[in-house]
Amino acid sequence: MSNTKVVVVTGGLGLLGKAFLQSLISNGHIAVAADITDAASADFITELKKENLPTENYFYVSIDISSKQSVLNCIDVVSKKFGRIDALVNNAHPRNANYLKKLEEAEHTDFCDNLSTHVGGFFLCMQQFSLFFKKQGHGNVVSMCSIYGIMAPRFEVYENADFSMPVEYAAIKSGILHLTKYFAKYYKGQNIRFNCISPGGVKNNQHPDFIKRYNSYGMNKGMLDKEDLTGTLLFLVSDASQYINGQNIVVDDGFSL
Ligand SMILES: NC(=O)c1ccc[n+]([C@@H]2O[C@H](COP(=O)([O-])OP(=O)(O)OC[C@H]3O[C@@H](n4cnc5c(N)ncnc54)[C@H](O)[C@@H]3O)[C@@H](O)[C@H]2O)c1
Repeated sequence: MSNTKVVVVTGGLGLLGKAFLQSLISNGHIAVAADITDAASADFITELKKENLPTENYFYVSIDISSKQSVLNCIDVVSKKFGRIDALVNNAHPRNANYLKKLEEAEHTDFCDNLSTHVGGFFLCMQQFSLFFKKQGHGNVVSMCSIYGIMAPRFEVYENADFSMPVEYAAIKSGILHLTKYFAKYYKGQNIRFNCISPGGVKNNQHPDFIKRYNSYGMNKGMLDKEDLTGTLLFLVSDASQYINGQNIVVDDGFSL
């Protein structure tokens, strides 16, 4: 198998997505940003040029992970352009305007809507890319989960903050974790593997008081920088992790201990 991977990152133009694209390109891979919007694409290309990174290793394709037609179009466009797709990174973060409501205020319709686009979208991408990977003879899926898919929230960290850990997120991320095991086992013998990365919180201009409370649970750092996750992604898309399948790698500085 080639060491240069063609990697499709859904939600590729978001916070973690851009860090993933940049590290993939820095390491010689072809990185495809598959996102519902291309608003950040031009700035990302400028960033690549500033870092002297090859812009020809970057490609944008429009996708809505909750539309089968759109997912199929993404697979078609990327596979025709590069001749293959080695890995999918399920990394989008769809949510509606009522996401982040307190438990008592979360409406059933919003709960279902957020599950439908997020777990449903990750499922749709896994399902459709797997069909492509099966025909191609190999494939690799890395899905972004969260520590809040494996543990109950530390609600005390959110005291006095104007946001909390939404109830949908627990259902979404634990669901994706289990889907990963389901797919890994279902595709036995097909040379397709499925793994998850479960990050702790990542710095994104949160209030310093929130960061301080969060950091008190970390072992050496606390809240992560987005670049702290790129090594794990590079490992999981590489052949060095060829026989890791159906697993979840927690990257949280020990927050979940
Ligand atoms: N940032 C964190 O602290 C953190 C921690 C743990 C896990 N995660 C997970 O990592 C992933 C990336 O998170 P992020 O913080 O970079 O999110 P983000 O909000 O910064 O970016 C998400 C991206 O997804 C795109 N998107 C939204 N709906 C879409 C759709 N229907 N189809 C295609 N693209 C769509 C957006 O345009 C955006 O570019 C998410 O799955 C998130 O749950 C993030």
